[in-house]
Amino acid sequence: MAAQTIRRTTGRGRLYDSILDTIGDTPVVRLNALSPKDVSVYVKAEFFNPGGSVKDRLALNIIEAAERSGALKPGQTVVEATSGNTGIGLAMVCAQKGYPLVVTMADSFSVERRRLMRMFGAKVVLTPRADKGIGMYNKAVELAQKNGWFLARQFETDANADIHESTTAQEILGDFAGQRLDHVVTGYGTGGTVAGIARVLRRERPDTRIVLAEPANAALIGSGIAQTRGPDGAPAVSHPAFEPHPIQGWTPDFVPLVLQEAIDKRGYDQLVSVPGTEGIAWAKKLAAREGILTGISGGSTVAVAMKIAESAAPGSVILAMLPDTGERYLSTPLFQDIPEEMDEAELALSRSTPGYQLG
Ligand SMILES: Cc1ncc(COP(=O)(O)O)c(C=O)c1O
Repeated sequence: MAAQTIRRTTGRGRLYDSILDTIGDTPVVRLNALSPKDVSVYVKAEFFNPGGSVKDRLALNIIEAAERSGALKPGQTVVEATSGNTGIGLAMVCAQKGYPLVVTMADSFSVERRRLMRMFGAKVVLTPRADKGIGMYNKAVELAQKNGWFLARQFETDANADIHESTTAQEILGDFAGQRLDHVVTGYGTGGTVAGIARVLRRERPDTRIVLAEPANAALIGSGIAQTRGPDGAPAVSHPAFEPHPIQGWTPDFVPLVLQEAIDKRGYDQLVSVPGTEGIAWAKKLAAREGILTGISGGSTVAVAMKIAESAAPGSVILAMLPDTGERYLSTPLFQDIPEEMDEAELALSRSTPGYQLG
């Protein structure tokens, strides 16, 4: 629809003391072209966080909870195993607060993630992809023990679900106050998002169904096979239902302790699996038809939301989490068939006027 008058903005009415104060309060946005008739699909755009993902919330709270408890001393090095977004969030938070950061990461994850962390001043130690998530995790533990560093433990720490309970979930309550909200759809990496949202929605919006998504070829929860753990809750072995999948940030090769809360306390009503190819297709549609640039996990979440929408009652309202920005995936299958060079149509346009043609 054409705008009738020029848009005006007035600022946020506050000055921010640090970049970290801009974390959270991400917008919920309606899908217009893609929403099926009679059903409203909204997305919560976590790429509005300053580090570009939902993990900024967790990173900030891990550091601030450890500062509060005294577990993290001024100037102490922080170490964590992460496939990227938590590392980028931690790198941003540690840069702002002055803590050195070492990240361990399997060499299979996208190159831009490593470089982003290094841009913030972090050290990135790569581990062999054959050793999967367990390998990068054990490397972080080894380094923490050897050097007396603070291990962030995103997969086990209470600081994870707590921050989603006190921010993400509250934002959903606030933004949908007085409005219908039938389904909330999210995937899991650590499970912090679903566990934190479930704590609040179960209490405050008991009629809202929580839908949890996982990759079709790594359906760990769907397999029904319990995770074996060590005494500190960390996984003892790689989960037998795991296979490598393209939905970066989702479903590591174990069921994290943080996620276990949502499993044990029935923090979701429905479990849906989705192939990575569908996630990629929906991420592309979100960009091309809604102007929303998100990663493969965001596309996968929307793919599941659209499946739910197909059989939802008319008037239903669905919210899908978009964990991060699509810019983080330039070297991944998401951009694989997005060309660098001009295609035939672009060449024809170039030739259609006389000037400024490439040789
Ligand atoms: C890209 C992406 N999607 C989804 C998630 C899932 O979030 P959570 O760890 O809260 O389950 C993450 C976090 O790992 C992520 O990085």
